Amino acid sequence: MKKKGLMQHKLAHGVIVIFGASGDLTARKLMPAIFSLYNQGILSDRNLILGVARSEFNDQSFREKMQQALLNEYPDHAKAIDVFMEQIYYQPINIYAKAGYQELKTRLQGLQSQHDLPNNLLFYLSTPPSLYYEIPKHLAELGLNDESDGYKRVIIEKPFGTDEQSAKELNRHLSHCYDESQLFRIDHYLGKETVQNLLVFRFANAIFEPLWNAAHIENVQIYANETIGVGSRAGYYDQSGAICDMIQNHLLQLLGIVAMEAPAKMDAYSIRNETLKVFQSIRRFKSEADIRENVVIGQYEAGCVDGKLKGAYREEKDVQKNSVTETYAAIRFFIDNWRWHDVPFYVRTGKRLKQRVTEVVINFKSTPHPFFSQVQKISKFKNQLVIRIQPDEGIKLSFAAKEPGAGFKAHEVDMGFYYSDFAQTQMPAAYERLILDALQGDNTLFSRNDAVEACWNIIDPIIAFLKENAASMLKFYPSGSNGPIQADHMLEERQHVWRNPTANFKRQQKG
Ligand code: NDP
Ligand code: BG6
Repeated sequence: MKKKGLMQHKLAHGVIVIFGASGDLTARKLMPAIFSLYNQGILSDRNLILGVARSEFNDQSFREKMQQALLNEYPDHAKAIDVFMEQIYYQPINIYAKAGYQELKTRLQGLQSQHDLPNNLLFYLSTPPSLYYEIPKHLAELGLNDESDGYKRVIIEKPFGTDEQSAKELNRHLSHCYDESQLFRIDHYLGKETVQNLLVFRFANAIFEPLWNAAHIENVQIYANETIGVGSRAGYYDQSGAICDMIQNHLLQLLGIVAMEAPAKMDAYSIRNETLKVFQSIRRFKSEADIRENVVIGQYEAGCVDGKLKGAYREEKDVQKNSVTETYAAIRFFIDNWRWHDVPFYVRTGKRLKQRVTEVVINFKSTPHPFFSQVQKISKFKNQLVIRIQPDEGIKLSFAAKEPGAGFKAHEVDMGFYYSDFAQTQMPAAYERLILDALQGDNTLFSRNDAVEACWNIIDPIIAFLKENAASMLKFYPSGSNGPIQADHMLEERQHVWRNPTANFKRQQKG
C-alpha cells in the first residue's frame, strides 16, 4: 500500500460496532477502509471491530468472511490481514428485542475489559433504512448515547428518508436519542478527495473568485455517469430511482460546494451553513410545465458496454417487468441569488452509460466581441474549467492559444493538474476518510439534518409528479450510449452542449 494523504498519528482506542456486518457494504467498503486505516498505523490493535447482524456467524466464521473480502481488495497484504483479523468480533442480534441490545452491551463491556479500552463507541448503521429508527432507540435506552466516559457516535448510511416528511421524522426521532454532534449522516461523495479539493480550489486561490458568478459563467454541468447497471441492489433501486439515489444527495452536495459563498471559517458549522443557503435558494419546481421543461428521465435497454452485451433494466433480477423507475435523470436547476442569477446548473446521472465519469464543468462566457471569428475553430470558443472527480482525477482549464506562424490561427489548449503526478500519494478511499473523521468527531463532511431536509424539499415535487407521470416522461436509451437525446435538447434550448469527456482525462487531445 502506498503512503496516503491521511493523518499519521494514532487515534483514541475504542470499538467500531457495525450493524449490518454480514452485508454487501461492510465487505466491499467498510472493512477495507478500516483495514487500510489500521495498515497505515492510524488504528492500532486496541481499536476493535464488532460486527452485528441476524446471521449466525461466530467470531471465527465472521473473520473468515472478512478475510476473504480483504484479500479481494488487497491481495498483497495477506500477512497484515491475518494479524488484523484478531481484532474483529461478531455478535448475532435480534434487532427488535431489548434483550439483544443488553447482550450487545455485555459483550462490549467484556471486550473493553479484556483489552483495557475506554468506553469509546462508534456505531455504524449499515442495515436496511427501516432499522434506523429501531437501533438508535434501543442503544439510547441502554445509555449507549452517554458521552460522560467516552464518545458515542452514530454513522447513518443513505438513504436518509424517502422524502422531506420522512427525513424530518427520522431527524426528530434521532434527536431524541442523540445530540446532533453525535450523528454522522454519510454521503460518501463528500469523502472523495477531489470533492474536498473543490473547497481548496475555490477558497485558497484568489484568482477564481472574481469570475465565479453569473457575470462570467454561462452554465455549470455536474454529472456522474456510470457504466454499471443496478447489479444486486434492484430490490432497493426499483423503489428509489436515479433521482433519489444520486441527485438528492451526492450531486446536490456537489452543487452546494460549487455554488456556495465563502464560509466565515473552514469549520463544519460555517461550511454547512453556506451549502444550506444554496439548497434554500435553488428554484423549486412549481408546476407540471416546470418539470416537463427541466427534467428528463430515462431507463436503459439492452446494449453494449465496454464491448459486452448487457440486458435491459426491466430484465434485471428483482425489477418489475413494467417498471417505470428511472435509471437516468438530467435536471436543469437555477439558483435564485445574486451570484447565480439565470445561470443553468445542469445535473445528470445514469447507469449503463458509455463511460464512467464524474465531473464538474464550468463553462465561461465567450468574449463580447469575437475577435478571431474568421479563424477556424476559435469562433465559438469559450473557456472551460473541468474538475474531474473520478476516475483519472484532476483539473483542467482550456484557453485559446495562437498557432506559431503567420496570421492568427488559434487553437484550444489546456493547462492541467493531475493527481497521478503525485507519485508518492494514493487517493484515500472516501469511506476511509469519512470513518476517520467520525472517529475524530469531525462532521464537516457529513450532511446536517437541515441540509438533508432541504435537498428533499427540492426533489419532492419531481418525485410526486413522476409517481403519476413517469410512464409518459420515460425515454429508453441503449446500454452503452450517452443516455436519452432529449437531455441534449434541453441544453440546446440555450445553445449549450454537454461536455463530451474522453476516457483518458490527462491525454485528451484538443482539435
Ligand atoms: P445488504 O442487504 O447487503 O445488507 C444488509 C445488512 O443488514 C445485512 O448484514 C443484514 O444481515 C442486516 N439486516 C437486515 N435485516 C436485519 C434485521 N432485521 N436485523 C439485523 N440485521 C439485519 O445491504 P448493503 O450492505 O448493500 O447496504 C446496507 C445499507 O447501506 C443500506 O441502507 C444501503 O442503502 C446502504 N448503502 C449501500 C451501498 C452499497 O454499495 N451496498 C452504497 C450506499 C449505501 P442479516 O441478514 O444477517 O441480518
Ligand atoms: C451510491 C449509489 O450511493 O453511489 C449507487 O447508491 C452508485 O447506485 C454509487 O452506484 C456511486 O458511487 P461512486 O463512488 O462509485 O461514484
